[in-house]
Amino acid sequence: MKLAARAGRIVPSPTLAITAQAKALAAQGVDVIDFASGEPDFDTPDHAKAAAEAAIRTGFTKYTPSSGTDELRHAIAKKLEADHGLRYDKSQILVSCGAKHSLYNLAEAFYEAGDEIIIPTPYWVSYSDQVLLNDATPVFLPTFEEEGYAIARARLESVITPRSKAIIVNSPCNPTGAMYDRATLEVIADVALRHNLLIVSDEIYEKICYDGITQTSIASLSPEVFARTVVINGVSKAYAMTGWRIGYAAGPKELLTAMANIQSQSTSNATSISQKAAVAAINAGDEFPSRMVKEFDRRRRLMVQRLNQMPGVHCRLPQGAFYAFPNVSGVLHRRGPQGLLTTPADLATYLLTDARIAVIPGEPFGSSAHLRLSYATGYEAVATGMDRMEAALRKLS
Ligand SMILES: Cc1ncc(COP(=O)(O)O)c(C=O)c1O
Repeated sequence: MKLAARAGRIVPSPTLAITAQAKALAAQGVDVIDFASGEPDFDTPDHAKAAAEAAIRTGFTKYTPSSGTDELRHAIAKKLEADHGLRYDKSQILVSCGAKHSLYNLAEAFYEAGDEIIIPTPYWVSYSDQVLLNDATPVFLPTFEEEGYAIARARLESVITPRSKAIIVNSPCNPTGAMYDRATLEVIADVALRHNLLIVSDEIYEKICYDGITQTSIASLSPEVFARTVVINGVSKAYAMTGWRIGYAAGPKELLTAMANIQSQSTSNATSISQKAAVAAINAGDEFPSRMVKEFDRRRRLMVQRLNQMPGVHCRLPQGAFYAFPNVSGVLHRRGPQGLLTTPADLATYLLTDARIAVIPGEPFGSSAHLRLSYATGYEAVATGMDRMEAALRKLS
């Protein structure tokens, strides 16, 4: 069978491999602690569930407008204005089946052969694969732990070519937990304006920020930046609704219309029932995410403190999202029972088999020095998991 070339350009998500291994062990009755999944352990809030139940009972179970219900697009517009002062017309908002789908619609509508899409590293795994699936080229822009993963102007300028078409901004960031300050956002915006780049601002972790800092949307910097930014967001992380599959994009009308047309010929509307639940979640405001963040904060501090006590490991305190991203280069090249651990992937496998903790190695995020651990698990799980990890690392020679 001759498959389309694009299918051969990507590999199945490597993060799923370790998750599958962890699940297989759990199915055999092994007590595995899961630091791999990227979703809150909190339950979806009752008001969202009640809205979904009411939707089912009242027969709100048919097709909706392909781009999303007026009610949901109105709730999104109101939220974007209240949170960031961004004003969008309904025609500039597209509701899709998760933020990943929003990003994919954008990739299909905007990227093509010859285009270069700038992705700061470390980065969320799907950005580069979505670029490749749409015939364009990912261009990786290194950012560094010791600089707080900030984007340096000179380095950004150095990767720009006449083919550069967009830059993807993810703040707070999965996997690093870093959040761009205003000065960094201004550098990105300035360079994007001067080089005619689209700014893709993935704000899915917007509500998960710590220490009283709030996220700034790059689109809010000026009318010129607003005009060339697509904001991507959704309900998955903020309202513990990963399975409901509601994401959205807001941005320039011409682009959003093209994205909406693509969606109308592929998935059509996101689930009617989930759209009702999303309206309830968004309209209820920040009480739910704030409660969740308070609990994540306890776990964040515990996990980072424990990681920093382990030999050969150091970890920055994340400013947002729910991941610790420890640097484990001081552990690599030590010897475990199965031989030398030379890569984060080797270390992740060792931790799964020896310590029974599932973590994601840094490679799929573009790092050969880190692991990613989610603390959206439980306080006790973090405490026990860190005990196990420390004991396993101390065994290495
Ligand atoms: C940075 C980032 N963007 C987008 C998504 C996709 O979220 P959704 O569940 O809305 O598709 C994720 C999910 O892990 C993510 O980490």
